[in-house]
Parts: sequence; C-alpha cells; structure tokens
Amino acid sequence: AAQAAALAAACQTRDELRAAIAGFEGCALRDTATNLVFSDGNPEARVMLVGEAPGAEEDRAGLPFVGASGQLLDRMLGSIGLDRTQVLITNILPWRPPGNRTPSEGEIATCLPFVQRHIALVAPDFLLLLGATAVRALTGHTQGIRRIRGRWQSLTVPRMDRPIPTLPTYHPAYLLRTSLAKREAWSDLLQLQQKLSLTKKS
Ligand code: URA
Repeated sequence: AAQAAALAAACQTRDELRAAIAGFEGCALRDTATNLVFSDGNPEARVMLVGEAPGAEEDRAGLPFVGASGQLLDRMLGSIGLDRTQVLITNILPWRPPGNRTPSEGEIATCLPFVQRHIALVAPDFLLLLGATAVRALTGHTQGIRRIRGRWQSLTVPRMDRPIPTLPTYHPAYLLRTSLAKREAWSDLLQLQQKLSLTKKS
C-alpha cells in the first residue's frame, strides 16, 4: 500500500493515474485479470459512484458495471434522471478477483490509494458508495450496509482540501437478489437527486 500511495500521490491527472495503475505490480489480481477497469462516464461529473470490483463482463470489456448489475445501475440512475454522461463510475479494485470472489482485505488495502487519488482528482460534489465493500474501504465503517445506507457521511481522502458528502447505498448485485431492498435504494437515490437539485453546479 505504501508503494501504491507514493505512485498515486505523484499522479496529477486521471491519465497518469490510469497509467500508474496499469504498470503497478504490487497486486496479484493484475496477473489473472484480462483488462484494467478504470472508469466509465464523465470525469467532469458532479457525482462519482464507487462499486466493489469488476466481474467477468467488466473484465472483458475493460469498463465498470456493464453486466447485469450495470443494467440495474443504469435504471437506478435513470430513476433520478441521470445517465452515464452525468456520473463517473469506478470500483475499489481495478482488476477482477478470480471467479468473482470477494476481494481480500490485503487486496483492498493495497489498491485503496489509487481509488482515493481518483476521487481527489475528480473532486466530485457527491459520492455514492455502492455496497459494503466500498463503504468499509473508504469510510472505515464496518456496520452492515442495512444500517449505514441512506445516511450522509463526510468523506476525506488524502490531498483533498474538502470533505465530500457521501451516501452509502446498496450494491445493485444485492438488489438483484433482494428486491425488497429496492425501495430503500430508491429513497437513497431520491436523497441524492435532492442534494443535486438544491446545490446546482458548484
Ligand atoms: N460489480 C461491481 O462492484 N463493479 C462492477 O464494475 C461490476 C459489478
């Protein structure tokens, strides 16, 4: 993680960050992945979304959230009038864990400086964290997602001069399995929509 932190801190642009991750040899997930999955969407967007890790389809495409979870995510965004031109999407991990296993604590810690730097370079007005892994990695909160979702947090990342209003919600893959939770997810999205419309462009 110290190696990644030094590399990440030296990056002044997203292109530099992407190149630094692509060349980083400190995480073994890179060896089994087909593609680096860096981001999709609009780097100028006011909203940044962070998921967990690429799955099989994302690994093939080199883009986040293109499989079944991604289709649901697009519908979730659509419910508040957003599409991928109005958000930037990334993950905690830039490479797919083999067989879509849950990422290890070590892998998360190793790669965390990269996603933190990504957030600092984008400097979004709001962050939406998709699922417990993103919440735990970035905020350190270890309560279950059911307890923590829908409550705004203030997230700080290294080398960023202001905290970012951050809303944890359910991961779309969880919603695909647990459709009863969709109502709560939709109310989280409405909170985000409200903040966006109250604050307009900063
Ligand atoms: N799940 C994630 O967390 N991220 C993706 O990119 C795809 C599925």
